[in-house]
Amino acid sequence: MNSMDLIPKKQASEQEWVPESRFGRWFLTTNIWFEYVLSEAVVDFKQLLNNRVSGTPQILDAGCHQGLAFDLLEKYFEPKTIIGVDVDKGVVSLAREAAKRCQCEVKCENGTVYDLDLPDSSIDVIFSHQLIHHLSDQDRALEEYYRVLTPGGIILIGESCRSFIHSLPVRLLFRHPLYVQKSADEYVELVKSHGFTVDDEDIKTSRPWWSRHDYGLTELLGLPQKKREPTEVLMIARKPELNG
Ligand SMILES: C[S@@+](CC[C@H](N)C(=O)[O-])C[C@H]1O[C@@H](n2cnc3c(N)ncnc32)[C@H](O)[C@@H]1O
Repeated sequence: MNSMDLIPKKQASEQEWVPESRFGRWFLTTNIWFEYVLSEAVVDFKQLLNNRVSGTPQILDAGCHQGLAFDLLEKYFEPKTIIGVDVDKGVVSLAREAAKRCQCEVKCENGTVYDLDLPDSSIDVIFSHQLIHHLSDQDRALEEYYRVLTPGGIILIGESCRSFIHSLPVRLLFRHPLYVQKSADEYVELVKSHGFTVDDEDIKTSRPWWSRHDYGLTELLGLPQKKREPTEVLMIARKPELNG
């Protein structure tokens, strides 16, 4: 028996969590993160979705950190409720402050996506932005996403790929579990292997300036660009309807 077998499920998940570096925690509060990573992703999702989210959905913000996405999710998706969940106790009080800026109901919980305190088929949209590459057990999180989503419900997944997370500056400045990051294609395969549908037109890959070795300088100077692997992937994954 391995020592993890002796630890109850919730506690085991907490032990599997790799806390972010001090620099990483600070970076998540910067305007670069908010403007160029988070806001751009939400706008791209809105475009990819092309009005497929209607009504007043129940949204889960998985790994919500300090709740920076709440305003954006409210503005673009007009939800009934947003439920923010983060494993880091230290950020949940900040998320609760961010929740006060929203008109819709926002609940913030300290918890893990490995074991969501939510009923089956209770969520219409899961916003899972820059979380999966932090998870040592990505399969378990996707099983939970499948369980809590309504049939026909969607996940908006935004991920950093191995080519970025394993680059020297990221390895020096941030903390991640080892060897779990994937290429864009591998993330898509992982999600599909859990029963979700991901159409080709619902995948967007990119190499934003902040993820490049030269921070976009050579392109700015008009110098030739080599074709390289994507560093980022956005995808919309759908849980099939009950009738197929
Ligand atoms: C890179 S941050 C992204 C934060 C936010 N989604 C955003 O885009 O601004 C990753 C977040 O996931 C949280 N996290 C890591 N493992 C988690 C888990 N097992 N369950 C829930 N949250 C987790 C971290 O505490 C951190 O706040």
